[in-house]
Amino acid sequence: MFSKKSIKDIPVSDINGKRILVRVDFNVPMKDGVIQDDTRIQAALPTLEYILAQQPKTLILMSHLGDPKKDTQKAKEKALQAGVTFDEEKYLNSKHRMAPIAAHLGQLLKRSVKLAPAAIGAPTLAIVNHLIEGDILMLENTRFHTEETSKDAAEREKMGKALAEYADLFVNDAFGTAHRAHASTEAVAHFLPAVAGLLMEKEIQYLGKVMEDPDRPFVAIIGGAKVSSKIAVLENLLLKVDRLIVGGGMAYTFLKAKGLAIGDSLVEDDMLDKAREILQIAYEKHIYIYLPIDHVVTNEFSPDAESRHVARGNIDDGWMGMDIGPLTIEKFIGAIKGAKTVFWNGPLGVFEFERFSKGTMGIAKALAELPDATTIIGGGDSVSAVNKSGVADKMTHISTGGGASLELIEGKVLPGIAALLEK
Ligand code: 3PG
Repeated sequence: MFSKKSIKDIPVSDINGKRILVRVDFNVPMKDGVIQDDTRIQAALPTLEYILAQQPKTLILMSHLGDPKKDTQKAKEKALQAGVTFDEEKYLNSKHRMAPIAAHLGQLLKRSVKLAPAAIGAPTLAIVNHLIEGDILMLENTRFHTEETSKDAAEREKMGKALAEYADLFVNDAFGTAHRAHASTEAVAHFLPAVAGLLMEKEIQYLGKVMEDPDRPFVAIIGGAKVSSKIAVLENLLLKVDRLIVGGGMAYTFLKAKGLAIGDSLVEDDMLDKAREILQIAYEKHIYIYLPIDHVVTNEFSPDAESRHVARGNIDDGWMGMDIGPLTIEKFIGAIKGAKTVFWNGPLGVFEFERFSKGTMGIAKALAELPDATTIIGGGDSVSAVNKSGVADKMTHISTGGGASLELIEGKVLPGIAALLEK
C-alpha cells in the first residue's frame, strides 16, 4: 500500500511557524482567462486547509498551467494559416497565467492569495523573503521556465534547488502531474524533506488498492479512441481483472482483428497484431473480454448526422461506429453486475454528441446503481462523461489524474511519488 509519508505524518511543530511549499496540479481548463472547471482546485483544498490550520509561517503554491511554449507555437501557426494577427500576450493571459487561479483560490480559502511574477528568479526571491507571518503566495506558471521540463537533469535540479530555497518543507499534492519528472514535482524533492499531500495520498490509496488488492469480482471498462495509448494498461489489467470490457473507438481495432467488418470506423491497422495478442492472452487466462455486439453508426462525423443501429460485423463501407448499441449496453451491464470493484477509463462512444452518448451514459448510470461496489473513474474524458451523466457523486473515487492514473494502472513508478520520503 501507500508507503510514503504524508503531511499528516509530519509533527505539527514542523509545520507551525514554518515555510511550506506545495506543488498542486491547478492545470485547469481556461478560456479567455476564465476557469472552466475548478475540480482540481477544489480537490487540493483539504491539503491546503490542513496546512493552514497548523499556522505555517508562509504557504507557497506552485503549478503548471498548460504548456506556454508548445501551446503558443501551435496557436501562432494556426493564426498564420488563418491569416490573422497573433497577440502573444493576450493569448498567454487567456490560458497560461495563474492570476485567475490565485483569485479563485483566495475566494475558496477566504484568504488573500498573493501572486509572484515568476516561479524562480531574483524578483520572486525578494517577494518570498518579504512575506510576513500567515501569507499565502502563488508562483507564476512553472512551465514558463525551460528548466521545469528540461531533458537535462542538471537544469531541472537547478530550478528545483531555487524553489527549495523558499521553504522548510515540500508537499507534493499534484497527483495529476506525478508521472512527470519535472523540477517542481521531482527535482525540488531532492533539496527539502518531501511528503505527499492528502489528495496525492487518497488517489494512490484508491488506485493502488485496485491494482494490488481489489475486492472481487473486479471488472475493468476501457474505452477511448486508441488501443495504442492503452496497450500497457490492457496488458497489466489482464493480470488483475476478472472481466474486461472494451468499448469506444478502440473496440473497432479488436473487432477488425477478429475478422469482422467495421466499415469506416476508427481503426489502428498497425495495432491489429497487438489486439490479437491481447485477445489470445485473455483466452489463455480464461478472462472474458466483452466487446460490442451492436453499434450506433453514422455516415458523417457530426452531432446531427443520420444514425442507424446495426449488429456486429454489419457496418458498411462509408459508415462508422459512434456508440455501442442497446444490446451491448445490456451485455456490459450484465458484465458489471455483482462486481465489487470497477475501474473505468475512456468513454464508450462519442458522448460529446447527444445522439451517440447513450452507451457511455447508460454504463455510468449502471455503475452508480451497483450496490456495495468500489467504483473508480480514471481521469481524462471519462471524468467529463461521468460529470455529464449526473451521477458523479455516486462514484467512490474520481481521479484528478489522466496520464498519471493510467501510468499507475500500467504498473509504472511515478517519479513525483518515488521522490517522497518513506514512512
Ligand atoms: C494533466 O492535465 O494530465 C496534468 O496536469 C499533466 O499535464 P501534462 O500532460 O501537460 O504534463
